[in-house]
Amino acid sequence: MTDHIQASTDPRLLELLAKLTLEEKVLVLTGHDFWATWPIEKIGLRRILVSDGPSGVRGEVWDERSPSLNLPSATALGSSWDAAIARRYGNVAAVEARRKGVDVVLGPTINLHRSPLGGRHFEAFSEDPILTADLAAAYVEGLQENGVGATPKHYIANDFETDRFTVDVRVAERPLRELYLLAFEKAITEAHAWLVMSSYNSVNGSTVTENELLETPLNSEWGFDGVVISDWTAVRSVNSARFSQDLVMPGPAGPWGDALVAAVRAGEVEESAIDRKVLRLLALAARVGALEGFDAVVPEPVVVEDGIAFARTAEVEGAVLVRNENAELPWNASSLTSVAVIGHNARFARTQGGGSATVLPEKVVTPLDGLRSALPDATVSYSVGAVVQEGIAELPLDRMTNPATGEPGAHVRFLDASGASIFDEDRRASALVWFGGDAPIARASMLEFTTRYTPDATGEILLGFAGSGNGRVIVNGELLHEENVITEGVDLGAAFLAPPSSSIAVPVVEGTPIDVTIEYDIVQGGPLAGALSITIGIEPDTSNPEQLIADAVEAARGADVAVVVVGTNSRVESEGYDRDSLALPGRQDELVRAVAAVNPRTVVVVNSGSPVLLPWRDDVSAVLLSWFGGQQYGDAVADILLGLAEPGGRLPTTWPIEQADVPVIDVTPQNGAVSYDEGIHIGYRAWLKAGTEPAYEFGHGLGYTSWSLDDFALDSSTIFEGGTVSAAVRVTNTGSRRGKQVVQVYASRRDSSIERPVRWLVGFAAARVEPGESTWVTIPVSARAFADWGVDAQGSAGWHYEQGAFQLHAGTSVSNLPFSKSIDVTALSS
Ligand code: BGC
Repeated sequence: MTDHIQASTDPRLLELLAKLTLEEKVLVLTGHDFWATWPIEKIGLRRILVSDGPSGVRGEVWDERSPSLNLPSATALGSSWDAAIARRYGNVAAVEARRKGVDVVLGPTINLHRSPLGGRHFEAFSEDPILTADLAAAYVEGLQENGVGATPKHYIANDFETDRFTVDVRVAERPLRELYLLAFEKAITEAHAWLVMSSYNSVNGSTVTENELLETPLNSEWGFDGVVISDWTAVRSVNSARFSQDLVMPGPAGPWGDALVAAVRAGEVEESAIDRKVLRLLALAARVGALEGFDAVVPEPVVVEDGIAFARTAEVEGAVLVRNENAELPWNASSLTSVAVIGHNARFARTQGGGSATVLPEKVVTPLDGLRSALPDATVSYSVGAVVQEGIAELPLDRMTNPATGEPGAHVRFLDASGASIFDEDRRASALVWFGGDAPIARASMLEFTTRYTPDATGEILLGFAGSGNGRVIVNGELLHEENVITEGVDLGAAFLAPPSSSIAVPVVEGTPIDVTIEYDIVQGGPLAGALSITIGIEPDTSNPEQLIADAVEAARGADVAVVVVGTNSRVESEGYDRDSLALPGRQDELVRAVAAVNPRTVVVVNSGSPVLLPWRDDVSAVLLSWFGGQQYGDAVADILLGLAEPGGRLPTTWPIEQADVPVIDVTPQNGAVSYDEGIHIGYRAWLKAGTEPAYEFGHGLGYTSWSLDDFALDSSTIFEGGTVSAAVRVTNTGSRRGKQVVQVYASRRDSSIERPVRWLVGFAAARVEPGESTWVTIPVSARAFADWGVDAQGSAGWHYEQGAFQLHAGTSVSNLPFSKSIDVTALSS
């Protein structure tokens, strides 16, 4: 892909800039609305449409009537350890973006897994900077080679959510450069991302949108000439315009506008600073094909594949088999007559994390669906086993009838202060978000949701809503409940995307419909004015957990095998807050133990976006970490359990035995700050330093064949600063089926003059090998992987190369490294 635009020097862009008044220049630097920039007809500039992502592309509206492909979470992609998969993931996302008219995807999220408590852990790749960097660059290339702009985010040190708008992350220069900035560096210097998103938090005392880090290293060292787009509402002052912050989102309101025009006129902000931003925006418009007279870098996606099939492949490639006693898996489908499928998440699977990354898939294949369709001749029973859901779950579409149309769904009206209907729509879901789009929220006083709900059982249901503010529950014309739900905490995203629930017990009879009306009072104003989110539905029945476990045990006792799908819920892993516990919610641990006690062939599938504690892990036959598996999740799980595909994942992040063992865990600000005191020791580096054993180590993952690792070679025993060496490991597939092996190379340094990790990843490569065959797997290792960031004797900060011998270790996980070789790092001049 040749990018033909130079933002600062292209004469055609300079000519267009000269046609704009100061007011017009400032106008285009704040969004036109939630998701688009301003068009300016007189210079042939159309709007640029941006969208979340990153595991699919939601598009301009958050609406089930405009569904999107839902890819597996970034943790699944991180587990592939395969840049080719990340590139295809970007390709597929770009095709989705273009299908939805989107020019720019707001992703990938490339913050690091510093603490497993991080609420958006599922959205990022790994605890390791090199693994993150390689996958990030490939994802960016995949998007942009299909003509869609990529936005690596959130720059920078936005590795947890608590107080994310205000928290000051105190981090020393060395870890900042060697860990947190590294993936951004690669996404820009190698993959040439067209945008970067600036984060909400402060770093070392200055909020990022007013931080020198936006210029150095991003622009001055890495040569970024794209657009720094703010995270939504992250720009708070006119002063930020003096920094290398280019575009304020969302719009149209914002701190720049007239105030910035006045500041320029008063000489407080240089007009040249404004011009630089506008030129970058115009260059972006030219790149995506939004500026007349310029050919888009890539007018139409050129790498196109079946997205649904890819979603299944990506999940297979990312699922990590961490335990497989006595080769329990794969199962032979023809020998199974009865399978007990157990677990809330087996039927109500989490295919993605919550928050702004949410996309609305047309259809989801749950593990229960996947196993039932893969095993048509077996009896596949289902028991819920334990309640996982917290708060309101939306009503299933097949139980809702829209009173206005008689079709499945609900009718929604917006009423003004006089009670007149000013907008109405027919929906096919009861989880509703208006975040952009046409609904006249700013003019409405009340939202009214009506449906006829047909219960599937007799008893009491807890009917209500999840949303911040005042709502009423009306059943068969009678007002049963009213509550003003106050959101705790200050995070707007959390209040908006994961609000608390309010409900009332309603007696129902199976098959006898009830007319449900929810009235919700709309409060105007606030930073997310014009946006609205409410879910109408039912809270779980937690009245008899023992019975649920007993039912599951009975099902498991009589079955050939049992599959328990355990996992987190939508309140545990989302945006705007962190987790406070790594334990599985509800009684799931008890459930697994009880099932494993009666069926020795119990396999546990873990449906979480990030590490959870598995205290029973040695008591079950097999454990498959399947992350949030995307819309084809259940097909992929069935493929793996039945051996149609091999689990391709290796852990991108260490999984602990106990929460107390995790060496870097704290995400709670003290006096407004979180200090990254652990420096360069995060993830497995911190585990190695502490000498603590995790449950499953970084890089670990099993397949279905057997291997021998035969030899390790380097093409040179010396590496020059700025150069690379090729490491190669010869592997033989000694088993009877094709398999995937991920070869990993780590470095260490004895007697270093500076503090270093015990060892650190410097390169990796995935290979697929036929049974009986051998292959050399080549892993390029760059000299930069040996460099450290510091201040030299002359006092200048930069990358330094400690000279002399380093050790390279090769193998298949951070603690399974059978080979070592020495390599000399040498300055070019010596
Ligand atoms: C998130 C971003 C997202 C943006 C727009 C923010 O709250 O942090 O990741 O792209 O919203 O939805």
